[in-house]
Amino acid sequence: MSSTDTPSHNVAAYLSRYGKVGFEDFRRMAADASLSTWEKIGFPDSYRKGFEEHIFADIQHKLPALGGTQQVILDIGAGCSDLPRQLIAQCIAQQHRLVLLDSAEMLSLLPDGTGVEKVAARFPDCPPLLEDLHGRVNAILCYSVFQYVFAEGNIWSFLDASLALLAPGGSMLIGDVPNISRRKRFFASETGIAHHKQFTGRDEVPEVHFNRSEPGLIDDAVVLSVLGRCRAAGFDAFVVPQDSRLPMANRREDILITRP
Ligand SMILES: C[S@@+](CC[C@H](N)C(=O)[O-])C[C@H]1O[C@@H](n2cnc3c(N)ncnc32)[C@H](O)[C@@H]1O
Repeated sequence: MSSTDTPSHNVAAYLSRYGKVGFEDFRRMAADASLSTWEKIGFPDSYRKGFEEHIFADIQHKLPALGGTQQVILDIGAGCSDLPRQLIAQCIAQQHRLVLLDSAEMLSLLPDGTGVEKVAARFPDCPPLLEDLHGRVNAILCYSVFQYVFAEGNIWSFLDASLALLAPGGSMLIGDVPNISRRKRFFASETGIAHHKQFTGRDEVPEVHFNRSEPGLIDDAVVLSVLGRCRAAGFDAFVVPQDSRLPMANRREDILITRP
């Protein structure tokens, strides 16, 4: 696993090709036949191949509505890998209404199914959907998406619009958040240094810089502000760890929000 995991590093191979990665770039990547399924969503294959079953199990654990029946489920930024495919299969089996939201190019790569609706839009620029789902969604999944919203958009309008969709007792998982503060803590630790040496095969200590601005990257201040914003709006909100089997569990984390 790379020791320099940041949003920009994860997509480094594509930055050289596309310049930067945002919603429009994902749209182009989805249509690029030379990219693998995982590369289309910005990951080197090694970051996801063989891990997505564990990721989905972790998501199911955190979003119990997925195990119920006839629930309303929304996946914001579904992508096109086996992760949304597992979600689709689960939702069909449980007779849920599943709304998948992403670009048309990304959604076209996913199968259709009973109860599955595809909405081609950039959240929250989808007024009809916001109106339709207002206060009705039992589980919102937003996995490995929030960093892109942070880098190119307004996380507060994204968050406020998401919270408005939750039904009483509903939950939102903002998953796989790359928190640069947590990454720094890890790579400044003995465990992180040993991990780095093992990964690189070199006897060198990873460079970690504290007390400097990190434009475009999510840090503790952002994560904790999200909790504060949700709680002030009447929701419970927690930072929760990822299953240790997940590829970036030592430097990414999840935010779980529930409507009481
Ligand atoms: C890194 S991929 C993650 C895909 C999937 N959630 C997963 O974890 O496998 C990010 C996805 O979010 C989508 N995306 C980014 N910003 C979005 C937004 N504001 N609304 C909807 N989708 C968005 C991109 O098109 C891309 O498919």
